[in-house]
Amino acid sequence: MLDIKIEFNSNPKKLPDKDDPLKFGTIFTDHMFIMDYTLGQGWHDARIIPYQPICLDPSAMVFHYGQEMFEGLKAYKTKDGRILLFRPDMNARRTNRTCKILCMPEIPEEDFVQAIMELVKIDKEWIPTKKGTSLYIRPFIIATDPFLGVRPSNMYKFIIILSPVGPYYPEGLDPVKIWIEDTYVRAVKGGIGEAKAGGNYAASLRAQVKAHEEGYSQVLWLDGVHRKYIEEVGAMNIFFKINGAVVTPMLNGSILPGITRDSVIRLCKDWGYEVQERLISIDEVYDAHQKGLLEEVFGTGTAAVISPVGHLRWGDHVMQINDGGIGKLSQKLYDNLTGIQLGDVPDIYDWTVEVK
Ligand code: PLP
Ligand code: COI
Repeated sequence: MLDIKIEFNSNPKKLPDKDDPLKFGTIFTDHMFIMDYTLGQGWHDARIIPYQPICLDPSAMVFHYGQEMFEGLKAYKTKDGRILLFRPDMNARRTNRTCKILCMPEIPEEDFVQAIMELVKIDKEWIPTKKGTSLYIRPFIIATDPFLGVRPSNMYKFIIILSPVGPYYPEGLDPVKIWIEDTYVRAVKGGIGEAKAGGNYAASLRAQVKAHEEGYSQVLWLDGVHRKYIEEVGAMNIFFKINGAVVTPMLNGSILPGITRDSVIRLCKDWGYEVQERLISIDEVYDAHQKGLLEEVFGTGTAAVISPVGHLRWGDHVMQINDGGIGKLSQKLYDNLTGIQLGDVPDIYDWTVEVK
């Protein structure tokens, strides 16, 4: 159990207006959590302080070699005023998996969840309640050792910030257009693709810029060896409904093991769908589309929730899916998942955790 010192913000900001659409990731709350790590001492000095810039030595290792990880989860306010987190234990576990991959010190799962709960409690007035909004929680760890040699850092900071958010895509639940990238790759087997590390996102930017220039929201990555097998999208995992079955790439070490992905697989199985986690090639997707068997495509993620894909572009091929509309399964998943998260649908899986 962490002993968290608290310094309240004596100059709180004005809360966003109730009707503010809350553009993703632009507004931050009044407080932040911070804790330091020193080799030989472990994690120490857990504190919640007013939201503020952090002061780092210019030689801090994170600036030079990118030893950084982050997580993302959300807090929701129910109609009867309770505060719920969605599967925070999964974020705690994934944090430690990422830390292992990046040679960073792990954080006890219960400390990770406790830190989030204490911070959310203090800034609970910031949890928005308008449909489609929530309080996004961003825990992250940075290497702070002032040293220019290449090795794992001996010092770190674990920080949590909070941001009231609306939909990740301006389209909201309307289908997005996705660009299938066949030149650049995000990650390869044996690399760090399955880690939630800043470096993976840095590697994604030039393809994303290209896709944006072509009028697409995000990139769908293909595997790094053959440029053939589907991996995932920039900020979400991907699912295809083909001839009644739900198909998604298996976890292969180069894609992020999404918590929404895991939840969607469970829901689909329990609703009687055949769910296949396997290799799926872009040729198979294109072929299914040509035969009229590609019924739905959707992405899953904490920020993206369930994002129907209405349009896929692969080289010269353009695939319009479901006439560019929201598929029935995508809508049902969105309604049930957000229903559980908001306490409107019974949580038979024990996925939500109340912040008290
Ligand atoms: N894949 C990538 C690259 C992501 O950034 C995310 C977002 O977190 C996901 C998948 C979905 O993961 P989760 O459902 O845990 O948010
Ligand atoms: C999330 O969905 O939590 C993410 O981390 C995606 C991020 C790139 C916005």
